[in-house]
Amino acid sequence: METVVSGIRSTGNLHLGNYFGAVKNFLKMQRENNCFFFIADYHSLTTHPKPSELQRNIRQVLAEYLACGIDPEIATIFIQSDVPEVTELYLLLNMNAYIGELERTTSFKDKVRSQPDNINAGLLTYPVLMAADIIIHKATKVPVGKDQEQHLEMTRKFARRFNTMYGTDYFPEPDAYNFGEQLVKIPGLDGTGKMGKSEGNGIYLSDTPKEIRKKVMRAVTDSGPQGENQEMSEPVRNLFTLLNVVSDPSVVDSFKEQYNRGTIRYGDLKKQLAEDIIRFNEPVRERIEEISADSHYLNKVVKEGAAKARESAAATIKEVRHIIGYRPFV
Ligand code: TRP
Repeated sequence: METVVSGIRSTGNLHLGNYFGAVKNFLKMQRENNCFFFIADYHSLTTHPKPSELQRNIRQVLAEYLACGIDPEIATIFIQSDVPEVTELYLLLNMNAYIGELERTTSFKDKVRSQPDNINAGLLTYPVLMAADIIIHKATKVPVGKDQEQHLEMTRKFARRFNTMYGTDYFPEPDAYNFGEQLVKIPGLDGTGKMGKSEGNGIYLSDTPKEIRKKVMRAVTDSGPQGENQEMSEPVRNLFTLLNVVSDPSVVDSFKEQYNRGTIRYGDLKKQLAEDIIRFNEPVRERIEEISADSHYLNKVVKEGAAKARESAAATIKEVRHIIGYRPFV
């Protein structure tokens, strides 16, 4: 049994790529480990959201994860800003984080390029706050995508540096959580690459049937099969990948056969795909709406989550203070 910390961006509405690529795996992970899921709403301040927007985003993301089956009875789910202990550890770790290494972080360099008017210190020290999020619960595993591997590497470095500086093995060095079976990469509807928020090629769990039909019918295909048993183009292969996760195997086989015979009509394939996505999505979407409207339940989840997370965080801070040398004058 490992201690797992998973940070969730507070602006990321879930799309099918997030669900089948990650969140679905969390359902098993939470049963087998001591999991902390939190909404990273301190991190989100780097982009200066309006207060009302911040509040709305947190609520939406929370409702979506709960609707997907993240279970507050077995895991700890909380909001980062409800656990101010993390900001103390962040401050302490900042004393041993060097400007040079922070400036060399890929995500920071990307921001310098993409938003030159808002290179704030929070962006520079983003990896330090992330390290604090993780090691404050002494996590040993963190589920991360490719884009977060460098941050996890820095977390290990900061943990190791603390241990070396104070001659202790207090903080474990966390590794990436490994999901065993190959992770499914869900493609977008624009013909190439994976489904992503910034690509604008996704289907969201909160999309209505009407929106889903519209998006799927507009998906990129090609000019049609070029004869029998021809290799599939990327856009068509992508539609088949999506069909594979939401449709009955017999449906997938039937369209594959039509493709191989060169008789497939992409319009029919898309209609079927849209209906099967809707069939998958509808119960989740309804659950998201139900939970979003239930302030009483949301408050209870968040309050209990904060209490559990604070207990764990406060224990660490107490020990860290002692290790560093903040001690009573006996
Ligand atoms: N940086 C992560 C992301 O962009 C979010 C995050 C913040 C996180 N703190 C974390 C992820 C701690 C894992 C552990 O997705």
